[in-house]
Amino acid sequence: MYEHIDTELNELVRQLPQAGEGFMTPAQADFLFHFILLTRPRLVAETGFNVGHSACIIMRAMEKYGGGTLVSFDIGRHDQTRIAAEIVKKRFENFHLILGDSKQTVPGHLPQIFNQHPQATLDFALVDGGHDMETAKTDLLVMDSMLKPGGYIWFDDFENANCRCVGVNIVGREFAAVRGHCVRFLTHDHRGMMLYQKAF
Ligand SMILES: C[S@@+](CC[C@H](N)C(=O)[O-])C[C@H]1O[C@@H](n2cnc3c(N)ncnc32)[C@H](O)[C@@H]1O
Repeated sequence: MYEHIDTELNELVRQLPQAGEGFMTPAQADFLFHFILLTRPRLVAETGFNVGHSACIIMRAMEKYGGGTLVSFDIGRHDQTRIAAEIVKKRFENFHLILGDSKQTVPGHLPQIFNQHPQATLDFALVDGGHDMETAKTDLLVMDSMLKPGGYIWFDDFENANCRCVGVNIVGREFAAVRGHCVRFLTHDHRGMMLYQKAF
């Protein structure tokens, strides 16, 4: 599925269990992989691990410039999530999965990382967890509150042509209207996402 991007990434993703729900399409994966290579974050957080497609794309891209850390949050409603996390952990030692509702786990865990490592910055966040309005909004605002100036948030499934995610669309539009610095992308394989850069 991702052989057009990187052979190792493709091999790794082939080992993952079947996705219970959404994943990165080939065009999104291409964009995400090269966006990470271009901007070179050292610390990334994501909501919505599922079976680890976005996690593998991010970790493999970071590996290409010396590595970085990914902290992933998922409620763990699919059995495959735990199986996939073991595969990803075995391959990348700086990958961490925190299970539970992101509305509690992200504000509960991320600040601890910055308290323990005062030099660390949240450089990039991918918001792709619960798509209901409350979860999408909380995840976006909490990630933004910890993002470094100039850092990026990828808000997945915004104005997605394949699945109309009402909560994500409303939250994304409100956020963009207030914050600005947002751009919408629609891929040729019919996915949508919004990219935000925090004022710098
Ligand atoms: C669209 S999938 C993520 C896809 C993943 N980013 C990928 O590339 O394969 C959404 C995930 O969010 C998780 N999720 C749903 N509600 C959540 C919540 N309140 N807190 C944390 N994770 C949640 C689901 O369990 C699911 O695994």
